[in-house]
Amino acid sequence: MTPQLPGPLGSDATIGILGGGQLGRMLALAAARLGLKCHVFSPDPASPAFDVVHRVTCADYADTSALDRFAEDVDVVTYEFENVPAESAAFLSARRPVLPDPHVLAVTQDRLAEKRFVQDLGIATARFAEVDDPAMLAPALAAIGRPAVLKTRRFGYDGKGQVLLREAADPARAWDEVGHQPCILEAFVRFEREISVVAARDRAGRVACFDVTENEHRDHILKISRVPAAVSPAVEAEALAIAGKIAAAFGYVGVLAVEMFVVAEGAGHAVLVNEIAPRVHNSGHWTLDGASASQFEQHIRAVAGWPIAVPRRHGRIEMVNLIGEEVAEAAAWLEVPGAAVHLYGKGTVRPGRKMGHVTRLLPD
Ligand SMILES: Nc1ncnc2c1ncn2[C@@H]1O[C@H](COP(=O)(O)OP(=O)(O)O)[C@@H](O)[C@H]1O
Ligand SMILES: [Mg+2]
Repeated sequence: MTPQLPGPLGSDATIGILGGGQLGRMLALAAARLGLKCHVFSPDPASPAFDVVHRVTCADYADTSALDRFAEDVDVVTYEFENVPAESAAFLSARRPVLPDPHVLAVTQDRLAEKRFVQDLGIATARFAEVDDPAMLAPALAAIGRPAVLKTRRFGYDGKGQVLLREAADPARAWDEVGHQPCILEAFVRFEREISVVAARDRAGRVACFDVTENEHRDHILKISRVPAAVSPAVEAEALAIAGKIAAAFGYVGVLAVEMFVVAEGAGHAVLVNEIAPRVHNSGHWTLDGASASQFEQHIRAVAGWPIAVPRRHGRIEMVNLIGEEVAEAAAWLEVPGAAVHLYGKGTVRPGRKMGHVTRLLPD
């Protein structure tokens, strides 16, 4: 049983955040601006979010005595990381309100459950088949056709845990490459562009979406987000409606992001949902500098039981991620007029690691 939600949090309140990455760091900064405190729980002693909050717990997500003390110290719990173990979320939700509700995690942690959830809402996805073991791969390939993408059901991010199967690719090798785990096989989508919608929903059920954002990936990692997306008014309306429908179906409280493919179809376009992130999202980082309220503020407002904002975008905006060694480019960006530089304070550079981002307001 989830504890009764408290009334709107006051300025002495503390929000507990599970996960200590840059998303948790930016959430905590937004909370501070609104006069709220945060307590970050993360197993990683080098968590970027630890640097900006007063109280931290460095412990494993399965450490129930640490979770218990954390729950004692906070008024509500949220997360910046969707792979929090279900048992930990359940443990916490017996003690404090956890927002968004952990049932959302059960769906979004599993690509198969997520795809079925989306399809049950009447929303299109890539065609897919369940692949629990190697014997299921050949019939799945026959049904889906090639090229296809084999993805682990759980724990994938930034393209990790996925393999493209072209005409000549050996299915047995693909199964080895994903580490012999339950998977889904998806039809490869020849998309015209990738877009996302970052949506906020508050406890009263009000939904506010940021404008549709266009995303360019390099090596499966987001590199550039541009807003507004170069899509037709019909695609824009459909994308916004999809995000609102998903948020409402979850009874969601907080910010979520929906990644979508735009595919040419006849004279128009189809919009397919690729993934749901039950948290603030990299493609919404532009909102820190490019909108009257950021995605981080929206999330904090919602979990605090406050009304969400009706955000206004400031213009045409581009956000560039600084990935791995690209963090060295920050020095040059500091000299660029109008550029807003964000660095996450990560001590160690690794290939593919998100180190910071830069936002620019472009001329119309
Ligand atoms: N079925 C697909 N067809 C074409 N491209 C895909 C497909 N699935 C994923 N991709 C590409 O790989 C990127 C990462 O895949 P995604 O499913 O979003 O996993 P994650 O972001 O969790 O690693 C997508 O943004 C897209 O560029
Ligand atoms: Mg993705």
